[in-house]
Amino acid sequence: MQNDVDFETLKTEAEKEIASATNMDSLLPIKGKWIGKDGIIAGLMGQIRTVANDQKKQYGASVNALKTHITEKIQEKISQIEDSRSAVEWVDLSLPGIRPKAGSLHPITRVIRQVSSIFEKMGFSVESGPEIETEFYNFEALNVPAHHPARDTQDTFFVTQDRVLRTQTSGIQIRTMQAASLPLRMIAPGKVFRVDHDATHSPVFHQIEGLMVDKDVHFGHLKYILRLMMRELFGQEREVRFRPSFFPFTEPSAEMDVSCFQCGGKGCKLCKHTGWIEVLGCGMVDPNVFLAVNIDPDVYSGWAFGIGVERIAMMQYGISDIRAFYENDVRFLSQFSFVI
Ligand code: DAH
Repeated sequence: MQNDVDFETLKTEAEKEIASATNMDSLLPIKGKWIGKDGIIAGLMGQIRTVANDQKKQYGASVNALKTHITEKIQEKISQIEDSRSAVEWVDLSLPGIRPKAGSLHPITRVIRQVSSIFEKMGFSVESGPEIETEFYNFEALNVPAHHPARDTQDTFFVTQDRVLRTQTSGIQIRTMQAASLPLRMIAPGKVFRVDHDATHSPVFHQIEGLMVDKDVHFGHLKYILRLMMRELFGQEREVRFRPSFFPFTEPSAEMDVSCFQCGGKGCKLCKHTGWIEVLGCGMVDPNVFLAVNIDPDVYSGWAFGIGVERIAMMQYGISDIRAFYENDVRFLSQFSFVI
């Protein structure tokens, strides 16, 4: 019986038919004819009963091989047909679009960029320094000698005996004055570290340092530029006021307040009913700081400031817990996706 079936001819015939199909409509009947429930292959399988016992095995194998071959050819053909369909067939223009998920700038990054761009427009360079700093740059050169109480107030993380995680960006003032030629104008954003942790203090936070050194630089320049920065950040109607303060690296030193942008100065919860919000420390560069970097304080003068970035971001966006900045909660971060 086996000899009655010419597997080779069947194979060639099937291949020819499959090859002739140009789309699914013409392929499906061919598929049915060969490997469908009542197709040729099924028929051949049925005939196995009539095959001589010693040839059954061989016969079954041949039918199976033919079936596998035809199935593969049909599969190939289906792929070919799908590939050749034009893209247009697959695009349903009536479906709603899918908005791609775009990231957003972290509010801290945004404040740093905003402040940097304000100062870059005025010709300030943007500097940086190491986060692990020597005591010389973090304290000594800034007129904070060993055993000075100001070292305690900054709750320093020590890495080794004389290396600290910088407690302030002020050390970049020193590095820049050593490296750059005068006159100079710079700002320096960066991470700083202190042993402190609650709703308004984080052990790591960000500051932006500012420094301008030239002949005849005076407090009026400082006032003008810091007021300009506040107006850019919080609105053109903002006023600033300066209160005497103390920093080892500035003399005189001041703390600067900005008129409350929520109540306009009348008094509200945000400004604790004073009409003013404290924003930064500043002052005229102490002569001892100039001496530490071999700049003659009789020839040059300068002003400096340091501002806390988180505080600015908290005020700009009404954020009450500083920890929200570091938790990387997408629900928090995605609220800033409107900001490019
Ligand atoms: N480094 C000070 C701090 O961390 C901030 C500061 C105050 C920086 C006055 C200055 C400055 O440059 O002049 O609290």
